[in-house]
Amino acid sequence: MIKKCLFPAAGYGTRFLPATKSMPKEMMPIVNKPLIEFGVDEALEAGMTNMCIVTGRGKHSLMDHFDLNYELEHQINGTPKEDKLKDIRLIMDRANFTYIRQREMKGLGHAILVGKELIGDEPFAVVLADDLCINHANGVLKQMVDLYKQFRCSIVAVEEVPEDQIHKYGVIKGEMIKDNIYRVDDMVEKPAPGTAPSNLAIIGRYILTPDIFDIIEETTPGKGGEIQITDALLTQAKRGCVLAYKFKGKRFDCGSVPGYIEATNYVYDNIYEDK
Ligand code: G1P
Repeated sequence: MIKKCLFPAAGYGTRFLPATKSMPKEMMPIVNKPLIEFGVDEALEAGMTNMCIVTGRGKHSLMDHFDLNYELEHQINGTPKEDKLKDIRLIMDRANFTYIRQREMKGLGHAILVGKELIGDEPFAVVLADDLCINHANGVLKQMVDLYKQFRCSIVAVEEVPEDQIHKYGVIKGEMIKDNIYRVDDMVEKPAPGTAPSNLAIIGRYILTPDIFDIIEETTPGKGGEIQITDALLTQAKRGCVLAYKFKGKRFDCGSVPGYIEATNYVYDNIYEDK
């Protein structure tokens, strides 16, 4: 039902400089797998086969990662090392990749709007690859797609975060209509300390209905002078319905050094097999 997943991936990753000077932050590995590949796995698990990536300057290695490397294939064909490529080969067999360039960084809402040409007029998912989500039974996107089938409206994933952290996120306020599901009636992008409407922070997983594109087009710059998806979603919530879903699973903020280290340790201890 939802076939396309958009990955805004044009950002600079300044918190990881100098590593991200010439390497996209989405290619930072968690043990041996780049962050973006975790996101693609999650999208595939949720039934999506079209990966639409919004890139920027210096992001060629992202495209190369999801393409054949003939020289490497030739070198390791028939050797035990070939096994290390089996997951990425499977991804390349199952998914299509399309790319579009975001020329200017004008915020997450703007990045999503740049993806409009790749998405068209259908509901789609958005994954921010630096939020790494892990759940062993059902991935977070899969949980959200199941919810979309019932409600047919935009959905944001939320998580409870401590009060001293909430100013780093988009924050929702809403009425709980079912276990872990809220109907959004307010949303604020990165509220000033002490002003957050709740402790429910938006994390980088969204299901969006395509009317969001027209709404983004009419959204004026908000926090930080950027076009915020949070502001567009608030308009959508007021005109119709937006849900917030407190997902099952773990989430690591791999855009921050402590979150990245925590994710690396978790994946090494619990997922990585080749020890
Ligand atoms: C973006 C969104 C924010 C959301 C966050 C999740 O912010 O604007 O609403 O809470 O992603 O990671 P960023 O972290 O890109 O500043």
